[in-house]
Amino acid sequence: MKAIFAHTPEEIEKILELRFKILREPWGQSKESSSDGHEDTSQNAFVEDDKGNVIACGRLQTNDANTGQVRYMAVANGMQGKGLGKLVLKTLEEKAKELGLKKIELQARENALEFYKANNYLLKEKTHLLFGVVQHYLMEKEL
Ligand SMILES: CC(C)(COP(=O)(O)OP(=O)(O)OC[C@H]1O[C@@H](n2cnc3c(N)ncnc32)[C@H](O)[C@@H]1OP(=O)(O)O)[C@@H](O)C(=O)NCCC(=O)NCCS
Repeated sequence: MKAIFAHTPEEIEKILELRFKILREPWGQSKESSSDGHEDTSQNAFVEDDKGNVIACGRLQTNDANTGQVRYMAVANGMQGKGLGKLVLKTLEEKAKELGLKKIELQARENALEFYKANNYLLKEKTHLLFGVVQHYLMEKEL
């Protein structure tokens, strides 16, 4: 399996569909809430299956000259725990290095803390509560 970067509106649309299913729909959130509108200025990595379905995705944005932020990490139901999240994250980290970034920060959902710890992210602080129920934590990794 390989993670590649999205270049077409069709690829972005399939990514938004996966984000919606995994990160929004279970909390009754709208399809529109699946994007902050900054896809054009970000790097979207994804993995697709042999039918062209997007089964894993994640996004890198640049916050300042040294700092990238990973957002919207999602792996399809039934495909989690098989290394796809790690593959997407590594691909985003390689891109961040290419872009000259020195650090990645992210807001981890509580259920994803162990995943990011396994990928060498350090827990910095407890942050916001999304949709009133999903606790987030600021995590960082030096590249
Ligand atoms: C969180 C998520 C992106 C991780 O992707 P994944 O494909 O399931 O995880 P991987 O199989 O790549 O796991 C990579 C590593 O993290 C570890 N890991 C993953 N989830 C873990 C958990 N819940 N507890 C302990 N370790 C975990 C794995 O053991 C593995 O470690 P290894 O490389 O030493 O074997 C995915 O499960 C997901 O989409 N979850 C729901 C949505 C979500 O919470 N997204 C994150 C928003 S911040």
